[in-house]
Amino acid sequence: MFVPEGVVTNERMSRLMDTSDEWIRQRTGIAERRYARAGTSSCDLGIEAARRALEDAGLEAGEIDLIVFATMTPAHYFPGNGGLLAAALGLHETPALDIRMQCAGFLSGLQVCDAFLRSGTYRRVLLVGGECHASLYPWSEAEWAVMFGEAEGPVSPAAYAWGTAQRDRAVIFGDGAGAFVLEAHDVDDGRGFLGFEMRTDGTHWDKLYVPGGGSASFPYFSPEQFEDNRTVPVVEGRQVFRLATTAMPAIVRETLEKHGESLESLSLLLMHQANLRINESVQKTLGLSDEKVFNNIQKYGNTTAATLPLVFHEAKQAGRVKAGDLICFTALGAGLHWGAGLLRA
Ligand code: COA
Repeated sequence: MFVPEGVVTNERMSRLMDTSDEWIRQRTGIAERRYARAGTSSCDLGIEAARRALEDAGLEAGEIDLIVFATMTPAHYFPGNGGLLAAALGLHETPALDIRMQCAGFLSGLQVCDAFLRSGTYRRVLLVGGECHASLYPWSEAEWAVMFGEAEGPVSPAAYAWGTAQRDRAVIFGDGAGAFVLEAHDVDDGRGFLGFEMRTDGTHWDKLYVPGGGSASFPYFSPEQFEDNRTVPVVEGRQVFRLATTAMPAIVRETLEKHGESLESLSLLLMHQANLRINESVQKTLGLSDEKVFNNIQKYGNTTAATLPLVFHEAKQAGRVKAGDLICFTALGAGLHWGAGLLRA
């Protein structure tokens, strides 16, 4: 995993908008998040995570057969981050695939990579999830200096008003990237991914989306879109919260059942980190003890396509992933996409 060094506390957030450490902790569980500095894209974060994952796997970039990059904040509208990442790693022919499934992007990437390995199409795949949400905010250098604790403020009334108008969304996101190297193994020892259940219900597309910038608008971009804040994500927070707390436990149960497993045989549930209260509700619904869940949203906020590799990496570092463990990944995100995947570690 790789997260930018800029830590933004809730107290710092409260200088940019009408919010408080108490509100953010109580409603989301988030204590701080990381934000990238201007000039660092989601791809740059992904490159660092990819390098670390390759090092951890003891592999050179040239030994990778396919790159898959999941993000909802690509460095450019097109081309996607996959090719940029490949070039940064010195690869000139290795195919690269881009996934845009927001908070479910990494989970979907795992399924795609697993299928490629199972089919024998590729033997080694590098999957990256990375986001740079900082780029969505309109703040100037002076306002970012307040965010990063380098200036005391106050910020301009206009910046504070903008922050307050978006405060429900502004406090929940953070930047970071994570990467997995997945490799086919010839011996069937029961280890690896057992399978995935993925779902999409596009009728909920407008619960979480960006209205402006896209071919639904003619022209694709216009000054008016920026003036009307249509380039900022719309989040129907309560509805997404309700959908997440019902759909995630249901798909976890279904996936376990499909593979002849149960909540009892499950060692660890790693959930998308959108809101600690969502995850506590899912844990309660499934009746899982604290030993069977691991969260790190407290330190990073919602890093969208990066949450699963970040939470997996830190669970592993904390000694919560042991050989033979049954681990379930689950996520839900804009689209609406959700699903679960089972891993025998
Ligand atoms: N600080 C202080 N007050 C805030 C606030 C903030 N950051 N954000 C919202 N509020 C206020 C609202 O203005 C509202 O005030 P009112 O009752 O006086 O009108 C009140 O808090 C409740 O607002 P609401 O938006 O209903 O809050 P919530 O409890 O639903 O929490 C989310 C908002 C976004 C944290 C929560 O809905 C959530 O986590 N949703 C799902 C997560 C999500 O969408 N993730 C995206 C990708 S999966």
